[in-house]
Amino acid sequence: MINYKDLGLVNTREMFKKAVDGGYAIPAFNFNNMEQLQAIVMAAAETKSPVILQVSKGARQYANQTLLRYMAEGAVAYAKELGWENPQIVLHLDHGDAFETCKSCIDMGFSSVMIDGSHLPYEENVALTKKVVEYAHQFDVTVEGELGVLAGVEDEVSAAESHYTKPEEVVDFVTKTGCDSLAISIGTSHGAFKFTPEQCTLDPQTGRLVPPPLAFDVLAAIEEQLPGFPIVLHGSSSVPQDEVDTINKFGGALKAAVGIPEEQLRKAAKSAVCKINIDSDSRLAMTAAVREVFANKPAEFDPRKYLGPARDNMKKLYIHKIKEVLGSDNKA
Ligand code: G3H
Ligand code: 13P
Ligand code: ZN
Repeated sequence: MINYKDLGLVNTREMFKKAVDGGYAIPAFNFNNMEQLQAIVMAAAETKSPVILQVSKGARQYANQTLLRYMAEGAVAYAKELGWENPQIVLHLDHGDAFETCKSCIDMGFSSVMIDGSHLPYEENVALTKKVVEYAHQFDVTVEGELGVLAGVEDEVSAAESHYTKPEEVVDFVTKTGCDSLAISIGTSHGAFKFTPEQCTLDPQTGRLVPPPLAFDVLAAIEEQLPGFPIVLHGSSSVPQDEVDTINKFGGALKAAVGIPEEQLRKAAKSAVCKINIDSDSRLAMTAAVREVFANKPAEFDPRKYLGPARDNMKKLYIHKIKEVLGSDNKA
């Protein structure tokens, strides 16, 4: 049993309270490899932003859960080396699928876990989330639950259609489970194709697809039920069109990729939404940079020469999110 506090990590409790009170949101960035982690830590250290490092099921399969945990421990030391005196870094399990997965992460030093029972019947979601909370709280590990189902298909996290969170269920869920934060569904979804072209309108000036707005009325109704309670938004990549254009220009095939407009995320960040999950945008930034190097320098075969630009591009993206969208800079 390793406690996250001995690794220099923090849980989300204090961080979320400050974010809700201060009208900003904490970035939750997924990581799968060293360059992504370096870019996240550099961006957070440079902007003095609290940050959540997220590990998904896919990441655990790809990179190994133990290795990722040690990388997060290294991230704390690296942040200090970069001059961030008191790094506020959370190591979080993203979309935990079972009690055993959550327990295993808690036992090896994660400071926060998500138990995603959103696909289960309500009472089963309550029972599973409660069980995880009871275990996690013994070690002061914080727990994110989820109510409502996100649309989109990514990894095992999928649903045929979006089912918004029912505001009338949230008080009962939070009270019965004791969870520390709640992921909700208000129209976001995972991946780079969040809406079909049919769901969007076409901006005649730019020729770009404009997605429908998020259900801010549902968010407001949830906030009314749970004043000040930390709310989480998954599926919050904006799918930057310049990255998509670069990918397509250099041989990619991402047609009709569309995300959540930044102004909507800015608005959400000012509400009780205090954790915003971003993964796909980082994948796009990495892929765009790598494709550009390969296209312009076909003789290049030193991975540092294409992963380096990929890292730079991801760092730029993370800093942009922190400063221009979530408003979490200078909060740690
Ligand atoms: O919620 C989904 C995340 O983007 C992680 O996806 O399981 O493919 O790593 P992944
Ligand atoms: P995106 O696919 O929009 O980046 O969402 C990531 C996410 O919600 C991770 O849990
Ligand atoms: Zn998610």
